[in-house]
Amino acid sequence: MKTVKKAIIPAAGLGTRFLPATKAMPKEMLPIIDKPTIQYIVEEAIESGIEDIIIVTGKGKRAIEDHFDHAFELEAKLEEGGKLKLLEEVQRSSRVDIHYIRQKEPKGLGHAVWCARRFIGDEPFAVLLGDDIVVSEPPCLKQLIDQYETTFSSVIGVQPVSDAETQRYGIVDPIYRDGSLYKVRNFVEKPALGKAPSNLAIMGRYVLTPEIFDFLEMQETGAGGEIQLTDAIGRLNEVQNVFAYHFTGRRYDVGEKLGFILTTLDFALKNNELREPLLHAMEQLIARDNMPKVIG
Ligand code: G1P
Repeated sequence: MKTVKKAIIPAAGLGTRFLPATKAMPKEMLPIIDKPTIQYIVEEAIESGIEDIIIVTGKGKRAIEDHFDHAFELEAKLEEGGKLKLLEEVQRSSRVDIHYIRQKEPKGLGHAVWCARRFIGDEPFAVLLGDDIVVSEPPCLKQLIDQYETTFSSVIGVQPVSDAETQRYGIVDPIYRDGSLYKVRNFVEKPALGKAPSNLAIMGRYVLTPEIFDFLEMQETGAGGEIQLTDAIGRLNEVQNVFAYHFTGRRYDVGEKLGFILTTLDFALKNNELREPLLHAMEQLIARDNMPKVIG
């Protein structure tokens, strides 16, 4: 059996939800506290046993390549200044071997994954989306890889969402479950409100067999006029099992503003240096907000 050693991280989106911050900076570089969101994703991949990562980039994404490269001058300065902890942090991001490929037109997630087909070849592989950070032990992707190794089939990470939220996600139509593993009838990308077959939403973590490329190759457009990965997964499921796995862990949606702020707050509350000062500052802010307004 071939093991899962390669991962694709699509990062070609325009980041329109965070404009103007993302006018000249990729949204994947927006930091949660002091680490770009894409670094959390890369670290999850490595901690899950991935050895080769390909990031699918688009226009204006050079900062991502620079981030995962060596920064000789900066490293020398930190070393000279004896700032060894920071040096270690800076070097961490350049230790992995990351490859890059450009998606030349923004044709959707399915197309972005298809762009990396030559890098993947004939092996099972992972896809991790940058809008979802998952904190869990074992890492979310590792949980899916473990399932792949027992089912020899593609496995898609899911978690339940509310009825109102189903229209924002790819949703699975389950047939039956065995523990946390679901056999699936179909996968539906962003069903209209009230039309979702379940509440199990795809959360940006996939382990796929290379046969997925046969269906991505067809370049059929789906929801939003884009080539959807979810649609190709649905087609793959017609010829070989694709399971959904309800992974354990806390998932943060950093792809929209409120989710991004809540993630920052939650991470800060878990950080020993920041927790107390943050709580204190929040108390003051709330007290100030509740002050009666002075008129005149
Ligand atoms: C993408 C996928 C969708 C998935 C979601 C998870 O949608 O197409 O199936 O549920 O990511 O975050 P996007 O949020 O890029 O529109």
